[in-house]
Amino acid sequence: MRPTVLLETDRLLLRDWIDADAAPFAVLNSDPRVMEFFPKALSRAESDALMARERAAIAERGYGLYAVEERDSGRFVGFTGLAPVRFAAAFTPAIEIGWRLSRESWGHGYATEAARAVLDEALGPLGIPALVSFTAAWNRPSRRVMEKIGMTRDAEGDFLHPALHPGHKLAPHVLYRIAAAGRPDVS
Ligand SMILES: CC(C)(COP(=O)(O)OP(=O)(O)OC[C@H]1O[C@@H](n2cnc3c(N)ncnc32)[C@H](O)[C@@H]1OP(=O)(O)O)[C@@H](O)C(=O)NCCC(=O)NCCS
Repeated sequence: MRPTVLLETDRLLLRDWIDADAAPFAVLNSDPRVMEFFPKALSRAESDALMARERAAIAERGYGLYAVEERDSGRFVGFTGLAPVRFAAAFTPAIEIGWRLSRESWGHGYATEAARAVLDEALGPLGIPALVSFTAAWNRPSRRVMEKIGMTRDAEGDFLHPALHPGHKLAPHVLYRIAAAGRPDVS
């Protein structure tokens, strides 16, 4: 059975998760290059739990971190989507836009292409007034995606990630924002 496609771009499908995603998702979550800016890579059980959580979130609230598939090949390449921020900070409650792609899928513009579609859906039909995105300050590739999709750095929002020791090299995080108000009307 084909999964439900939630969003389509020129080269990608953003869709519901399927059981067959679990293996390639575990591979990317265990790749130290993909997980360089996270405290640790994920075990198979942690990867499966993340997939299950997002599958349930999409079913329950209609959005979440979507599985991303390359249209030409049918290959699973990672996720892009929306998630309520799961910790308390000066900028929460808030909904985050985020992405994680397999190493082989970097350098094609896929993260930016998928994120643009998610952003338009979130600030448009889903009626979410504003989104945030954040990452370890050193994560240049992710910050570049934020900038390319039109998000603005809120330097006053920079924070130390509460799940990390304040002295951890990944603790300093940068905050980016975008609001529906003031965006060009694309309808
Ligand atoms: C963050 C991440 C998704 C970025 O992936 P990426 O492939 O570098 O990002 P993009 O989709 O923007 O593609 C970047 C490059 O593809 C290249 N490219 C090739 N073909 C392209 C095309 N048709 N259109 C656009 N860009 C293209 C461009 O050179 C572009 O680089 P540039 O912005 O310097 O010009 C990836 O590094 C990743 O998964 N990292 C690990 C997980 C992570 O850190 N997630 C974020 C946590 S907050």
